[in-house]
Amino acid sequence: MNSVQSTTSVDSKYRLNPNNPAYAAQEWQERRWSAQNWFERTAWKTLQGTHYGRDPNEDAPSKYLWDDPLLRQIYLLDIASFITAERTSMLAVSGMVGCAPDESSQIHLSTQVLDEARHLEVFCRRLADFGITPAQREQLERQVTTRAMRNFYDLIHEQVDKKDFIGASLAQNITMEGMAYPIYRYEIRYWSRFDPGLSRIIRGAFADEAHHVSFGESIMKSQLQSLSVEKRNEMVTLLHDMQSLMTEVFEQVIKHYIGLYQEAANNHMDLVGDLEIFPGQTMANMSEEQQARQLLQEIKAEQVARLRHIGVSAFAS
Ligand SMILES: [Fe+2]
Ligand SMILES: [Fe+2]
Repeated sequence: MNSVQSTTSVDSKYRLNPNNPAYAAQEWQERRWSAQNWFERTAWKTLQGTHYGRDPNEDAPSKYLWDDPLLRQIYLLDIASFITAERTSMLAVSGMVGCAPDESSQIHLSTQVLDEARHLEVFCRRLADFGITPAQREQLERQVTTRAMRNFYDLIHEQVDKKDFIGASLAQNITMEGMAYPIYRYEIRYWSRFDPGLSRIIRGAFADEAHHVSFGESIMKSQLQSLSVEKRNEMVTLLHDMQSLMTEVFEQVIKHYIGLYQEAANNHMDLVGDLEIFPGQTMANMSEEQQARQLLQEIKAEQVARLRHIGVSAFAS
């Protein structure tokens, strides 16, 4: 735990003790997940100088985002899909605060609710900046929410509604967050030439998602040991169901939207052709479908590593 040294030279009896734990759960790193840390990490660091997550001096978005209807459509659909995920996260995490196991995790989750609310806000703001009305946004959200995506979100809410903290954490902070941050890492690169401002906004959310996944790993590590065999099996089933839905989400996006994405990208290869979308791979030599499959593969590989790290792979044996 970090310590804050007293600057006074008073007798030790009268000195404040910043290292005395404030909460009962001693094994828990209270400072790392504190609201104080949230200010230091987020408000005063990753978001410093931003306005709705963007740099006020950012480069203007490409005019093609207004003039090319295809490009505009995939841009708006991408942001609409971020909005549906962020709303799900905000609502799920706010429900998790009430069933978290200790004060320290309740405090962290409260900061996470604020993060998710902020993500929701900045993406709604971005659509509004592009002239989209709230009614048009809702229509875009409906359009982008495939059946598998709806089921994926519902499964998260189901765990929260049951007040099953372990199930909700695995669904939200391990699976959903674990999916969000490789997607954001990809989207930062994808939109960097068309709209560097959007890339900056996503980068701000990405930093938070990485922190949320890290919290998910820490809390799961401390919670999983005490589970009964029955509960462990239940959690293995939940993880399996979520992973199947996640694959289905990608398959449905590939089936319904990848042609649109490919056509939009083809029209602008002069601008994005040499953009390194994955290490050693450019937009010109990788089709949109290959990109989507590569992204899914990365998400799955990271998920496997994460589950091994928190000890869940042992569940199945
Ligand atoms: Fe988020
Ligand atoms: Fe998150």
